[in-house]
Amino acid sequence: MKIAKTLGQFIIEKQADFPYAKGELSRLLRDIGIAAKIVNREVNKAGLADILGENGTTNIQGEGQKKLDVYANEQFISALKHGGECCIVASEENDDYIHLDTDVSTDAKYIVAIDPLDGSSNIDVNVGIGTIFSIYRRKSTKGRAVLQDVLQRGVEQVAAGYVIYGSSTMLVYTTGKGVNGFTLDPSIGEFCLSHPEMKIPKDGVIYSINEGYYVHFPDGVKKYIKYCQVEDDKTKRPYTSRYIGSMVADIHRNLIKGGIFIYPITASAPKGKLRLVYECNPMAFIIEQAGGKASNGYERILDLEVTELHQRSAIFIGSENMVHKAEEMMAYFS
Ligand code: AHG
Ligand code: MN
Ligand code: MN
Ligand code: MN
Repeated sequence: MKIAKTLGQFIIEKQADFPYAKGELSRLLRDIGIAAKIVNREVNKAGLADILGENGTTNIQGEGQKKLDVYANEQFISALKHGGECCIVASEENDDYIHLDTDVSTDAKYIVAIDPLDGSSNIDVNVGIGTIFSIYRRKSTKGRAVLQDVLQRGVEQVAAGYVIYGSSTMLVYTTGKGVNGFTLDPSIGEFCLSHPEMKIPKDGVIYSINEGYYVHFPDGVKKYIKYCQVEDDKTKRPYTSRYIGSMVADIHRNLIKGGIFIYPITASAPKGKLRLVYECNPMAFIIEQAGGKASNGYERILDLEVTELHQRSAIFIGSENMVHKAEEMMAYFS
């Protein structure tokens, strides 16, 4: 039986694409893969280990942190610190960015922004959750890396990816040359290439949005939802609504099957709920690299100015034709 290529073999093989890199990015991706395997081990036994439920603390988002939020955050930060390739980590679970290097002269090349555990509301009910990461090259050239090194626009990302802890555990990432998916083979403890060159269908029949907020949606979103539900016997059947409540799981499904995920502005989230730096930008990079589209309803996500670490944004992301149709309605009705 042919053994699929492991993540490590693939990274080394693709390293030739980056003549400037002398292996640091490869090692950084390896470090992230190691932390993902450690988090996966806890996720898989969550019902048995004391890793479910509330941590009893609140993060800067005003969210009650789950034990697994904190555990995953600790594992990824520790792996990045010991790997030595990352100088700053910006995490959903930390108020400010964390400077990993103690010795200024050896400030590492890369910045990592991370949502260590995405879909926390699903942890205790055994529904798909994930991790999202975004990698930038530091821009500052002397002294310690600074906040400006983190607040870079999405177009500046050198890599982005996510882990989905679902029926199987997958790591999906891009370095700007397409999207590749790796499935964890627990029997050998390796992520193995299972979804080479992933492409999102240009169209789809799945729309993913929390319709509980319908009353407060912008008119353009309300019109798009009605468009999804309409049966026009000449050209269009009603679409299917699917909403998991974990951004990673909803977007991963759409990447494979085609579809659109929308988290617009709502009354309780007037700037949108999802965070630009470690949710919207990495997922937008991945979906664009897979041939899809990602905007805030009006502007491309990857072009948005980044002014704050925990800045929020509306997001319309997925199959190109579906996002385009939603943007048309936003332009016309909102
Ligand atoms: P996180 O668990 O990292 O805070 O992210 C949760 C996000 C995202 O995963 C999901 O799409 C969205 O919150 C769900 O929000 P609602 O419960 O408001 O629909
Ligand atoms: Mn959260
Ligand atoms: Mn999240
Ligand atoms: Mn999170």
